[in-house]
Amino acid sequence: MCQYQKLVVLTGAGISADSGLATFRDGGGLWENHRIEEVATPEAFDRNPALVHRFYNARREAAAQAEPNAAHQCLAAVEQQSKDFVLISQNVDNLHQRAGSKNLLSMHGQLNECRCIQCHSINEIHQDLTVESVCPNCQSPGSLRPNIVWFGEMPLHMDEIMAQLMGCDLFVAIGTSGTVYPAAGFVEIAKSHQAHTVMLNLDGTDNTMFDEVITGQAFEVVPAYFYDELDFKR
Ligand code: APR
Repeated sequence: MCQYQKLVVLTGAGISADSGLATFRDGGGLWENHRIEEVATPEAFDRNPALVHRFYNARREAAAQAEPNAAHQCLAAVEQQSKDFVLISQNVDNLHQRAGSKNLLSMHGQLNECRCIQCHSINEIHQDLTVESVCPNCQSPGSLRPNIVWFGEMPLHMDEIMAQLMGCDLFVAIGTSGTVYPAAGFVEIAKSHQAHTVMLNLDGTDNTMFDEVITGQAFEVVPAYFYDELDFKR
């Protein structure tokens, strides 16, 4: 039996690295050959929407080819066995959903959704977005953008996330470099509300806030922690 009652797990790009998807900060500061400011800011989209669309079309295609790995599957299994479990993800791929996670807060949006800058509706994307794509809701041409939270924009679900962090007794961060706020500050919030805090990551990072740091690849350390240390069932 797991000794914790209320679990909050935060994931970042590292959990999907074992499914073959590129992380943001492990490739010499470039993300698939682009500087982040070139493709992941509202200014970038204003300047060159065609480039931003091409970039996210390629990311969407890569995510569709990838499969959830043992770490994604483990978190879905842990959720099923828990009374109170919330998964917060910075990832925009849908590998958690495909592994079976349900109680998921995608704070940086979703690759397979678009948002209309005219009518603000959010719709699923079934084909590549271009500067000519027409909104399925209001029929405006050229008004669709990826439903991704870019640098300089407010992450989604923040009120709910804050409430969860303040009430949890275990906070686990997986595969995230802890460099992008507000997610990087979640450990501090959970800890100041007496949660036990654990980091599972390829490297230790400089974040010394965590009570425990376990290093290794997500597909190995996540199942080892939840099944072997916390006694969840495989
Ligand atoms: N298993 C576990 N951890 C891994 C693995 C792996 N196989 N491979 C890499 N990592 C770790 C890296 O060591 C790094 O600490 O995952 C972390 C990935 O960090 P980032 O690339 O910075 O990704 P993330 O923390 O999710 O970035 C946060 O920044 O660009 C924005 O909006 C974007 O959501 C993203 C946010």
